[in-house]
Amino acid sequence: MKKAIVFGATSGIGKALTELLLQDNYQVAVTGRRLDKLKTFEEQHGKNVLIKQNDIQDVDHVEVVFNEIVKKFGVVDLVIQSSGVGYVNSELDWEKENQTINTNVLGVTKLYDLAYKLFKKQGLGHLVGISSIASIRGNRFAPAYFASKAYQKAYLESLYLKTKTIPSKKVFITDIRPGFVDTAMALGDGVFWLVPLEKASKQIFSAIKRKRRVAYISRRWRLIAWVLKIVPAWIMKKLT
Ligand SMILES: NC(=O)c1ccc[n+]([C@@H]2O[C@H](COP(=O)([O-])OP(=O)(O)OC[C@H]3O[C@@H](n4cnc5c(N)ncnc54)[C@H](OP(=O)(O)O)[C@@H]3O)[C@@H](O)[C@H]2O)c1
Repeated sequence: MKKAIVFGATSGIGKALTELLLQDNYQVAVTGRRLDKLKTFEEQHGKNVLIKQNDIQDVDHVEVVFNEIVKKFGVVDLVIQSSGVGYVNSELDWEKENQTINTNVLGVTKLYDLAYKLFKKQGLGHLVGISSIASIRGNRFAPAYFASKAYQKAYLESLYLKTKTIPSKKVFITDIRPGFVDTAMALGDGVFWLVPLEKASKQIFSAIKRKRRVAYISRRWRLIAWVLKIVPAWIMKKLT
């Protein structure tokens, strides 16, 4: 039986991916702060699910939880990092900036590093980060969120480059870049090209299975990414 860990499994994309993994016969360790949501997984799936309550901002505890899961599972095949927060924060309210940095940058880096080091030691494994289309450019409404996603994108690429030094060639890094997905997170009102959660999670799962390095969700967001990469900042300033 393959073993996976999903950070941020209590709702949205992480929850949907956990359900797909369980259907695919994985044993899955799930984390998040909301214990009631974790317990629902346990009630529904019994011993196929291992629950660990965790606040990813508490990086020492992330390490404790991660090591407990590894001890229980032995070999871990897949780590999915889906935890995240995002705020529309035009006023640059510090508490929102701080929460975003501590979750999306500090906590996420800790988990990326733990996963990479484990996979290097095992000689196999697959780390999947859910970054965002937001990783590509800045944004005046949610600066910390967009910057945190740019950080994740660069970090995942760095880990991908580092896999060059792993002789087995069986360690994989995937950067999933969703557009707007219909979850509690979708930033702002009236967002366009909102992708239903079921469709998004199926496309993400397919990208994971194919060990894609980068995947845009849904696929049409690749077009937006292409435009975003070339448009000058002064045009973005006029249009957004
Ligand atoms: N929805 C979109 O449009 C969209 C687009 C691009 C990228 N993304 C990315 O997709 C990922 C998943 O988001 P989602 O859309 O599925 O939103 P969501 O339903 O709000 O899920 C966020 C998950 O992150 C966890 N989380 C947040 N803060 C945490 C903390 N301090 N410690 C531990 N877990 C924490 C939440 O668990 P608890 O609250 O239980 O802790 C929850 O499981 C995020 O990284 C997000 O940036 C989403």
